[in-house]
Amino acid sequence: MTISSIDQLHQLSLSALIPNSLSEGQLTNLPATMNKLALVSLNQVIQLLTNKQALTPLGDAQTATQIKTALNTAPRHEWLVDRWLVALTEHGLLQLQDHKYALTKVTPCTDIKAELQANYQALGFPSTMADAHIRVLASLSELISDQLDINQVLYQQSSPLVALAAYQTNYFTAYLNTALAQYLTTQIKPGPMVKILELGGGTGLLTDSIFQQISGRPVQYQFTDVSALFTKPMQTKLRTQIGARCRTLDIDRAFDEQAVPPASIDFIVAGNVLHNAQHIGHTLKHIRAALKLGGQLLFTESIADNPAMLTAMQFLLSPASDQVMLGHADCRANSSQVFIDGSTWQKQLEQAGLQLMWRLPQPNSPLSAAGQALFIATAI
Ligand SMILES: C[S@@+](CC[C@H](N)C(=O)[O-])C[C@H]1O[C@@H](n2cnc3c(N)ncnc32)[C@H](O)[C@@H]1O
Repeated sequence: MTISSIDQLHQLSLSALIPNSLSEGQLTNLPATMNKLALVSLNQVIQLLTNKQALTPLGDAQTATQIKTALNTAPRHEWLVDRWLVALTEHGLLQLQDHKYALTKVTPCTDIKAELQANYQALGFPSTMADAHIRVLASLSELISDQLDINQVLYQQSSPLVALAAYQTNYFTAYLNTALAQYLTTQIKPGPMVKILELGGGTGLLTDSIFQQISGRPVQYQFTDVSALFTKPMQTKLRTQIGARCRTLDIDRAFDEQAVPPASIDFIVAGNVLHNAQHIGHTLKHIRAALKLGGQLLFTESIADNPAMLTAMQFLLSPASDQVMLGHADCRANSSQVFIDGSTWQKQLEQAGLQLMWRLPQPNSPLSAAGQALFIATAI
């Protein structure tokens, strides 16, 4: 089978979700549900700002620096407060004038627990995601001031592997992983071995989607991650898959220094990984160097902040106290942004010798509400 249009790939991937788990009605409601989740999360930030008197309903407007000081923000988390302020302003909860922020309204507390549980469920997350987010929201003050570490809060009741898998188990990610796997499969024709390299394989959700589709095809599959915490369990899981191997690989270092010869790989796949690059431009060049001419990079990424995640998993993206912020010297420098938008990805790909062919979901799809996308680019 060949996939001849982006719409065909969309329909194929959607049919894997509907009618199995997602109804047409739930699909239509995804943007509204995402918005409710954003507001519950952002209202908790407003509660924090008022509790700490960083902003008060009748008080003076404050600069970002004043707000960070009032929250006793640890330097490594300052970028997060910047992102909170942007999201709060975009959602109309703060007003920005002359570089100063003022409250527009303080919404009364609702039953956060019930709202998070209902909304996460409607987005296809397991209930452990709502539980973890409730714990993080209850500890925002301690987390932002580094009196508490996010790992202690997230992994309190489960292993890191289970907790990380939970936040990637949802309709948006399932759709994109299915689309990536479907597309990849149609590219593998009978004939010589096809070499696939997965980056940042983590808990293996993308890997699972791919193996559901490609089994029996002539592939050599390398599952890699920077951490042996992920490659070791995957080694056990993939031991019966012919042609699969697992090992560590760091996307911040040249791949040929890590036993991936130049121009040796047909497909490189990465699910929600590339934003972890210290320098996106350098990582894309490492990827381009490893791909054969005409080879393809297939990756999923967040292309916008997700306000709910800004008050949850995004604490994991703050650098350690002795390290620099992701992207401090690339296209994200001085922006406080970890995620770049679709057109910036396209430019970065082009600069590295990769031509963007397709991107999903289409902007008018309800599946675009999470700000995640699949990119398919060819090495030119
Ligand atoms: C959000 S998880 C992605 C999980 C995975 N792709 C999946 O579908 O389940 C991000 C992964 O990127 C990995 N990672 C972070 N920095 C990395 C680096 N410098 N090189 C390679 N992998 C990295 C992390 O260890 C983590 O497993």
